[in-house]
Amino acid sequence: MRRSYGPQLWFYPLPLVVVGARVREKPTFTPIAWCTPVEDDPPLVLSVIAKEHYILSEREKLSVYSLNFPSEDQIVAADYCGMVSGYTHDKSTVFEVEYGKHGAPLIVGAPLSLECRVRQWLDVGESCWLLVGEVVESYAEETLLREGKPDVSHMKLLAYITKSGEYRALGKVVARARHVGRQFRKE
Ligand SMILES: Cc1cc2nc3c(=O)[nH]c(=O)nc-3n(C[C@H](O)[C@H](O)[C@H](O)COP(=O)(O)O)c2cc1C
Repeated sequence: MRRSYGPQLWFYPLPLVVVGARVREKPTFTPIAWCTPVEDDPPLVLSVIAKEHYILSEREKLSVYSLNFPSEDQIVAADYCGMVSGYTHDKSTVFEVEYGKHGAPLIVGAPLSLECRVRQWLDVGESCWLLVGEVVESYAEETLLREGKPDVSHMKLLAYITKSGEYRALGKVVARARHVGRQFRKE
């Protein structure tokens, strides 16, 4: 029996993305789950970041940042970054860092990193800034690509399950998108 449960933010699954930026001359990292592409060309990504977070403490100066997709092997460090604030804890050495072509700090060993340029800040009057960034470069381990595209099956990427607060590994492939729908009404 299907019931209504009120205005719950039950929204599953979400990605786990670690934002990297230089703040006060040092790299710092903040995981977010509220992050989504909004345009293909140019490639734009929206990140929802609380105004109080250290990573935005020099928001006016922020021009480039990274979106890193950590692997299961990096979960302890990634979660730690979501438990402490840069205001009280220096997170510059939590990950090994390399810098992208445009100057954003990237997490070494993350299967995927996107380097983004700030495009727009949207303030909808709530607790968060909505940051629209343009992806200006992307990085992946060569060995994790297949035919030039990320081969997700080997990346050990994570999904975040909000409310129950779990990180889950991705499961098996169940169908091909924009393909399986052809079977509709044929069965
Ligand atoms: C799994 C997970 C998801 C999170 N998602 C978000 C998010 O989408 N947006 C946000 O502003 N904070 C999010 N946070 C909270 C911040 O990561 C956390 O408050 C962090 O300590 C802020 O660090 P900072 O003050 O150094 O920037 C998330 C934390 C975790 C652990």
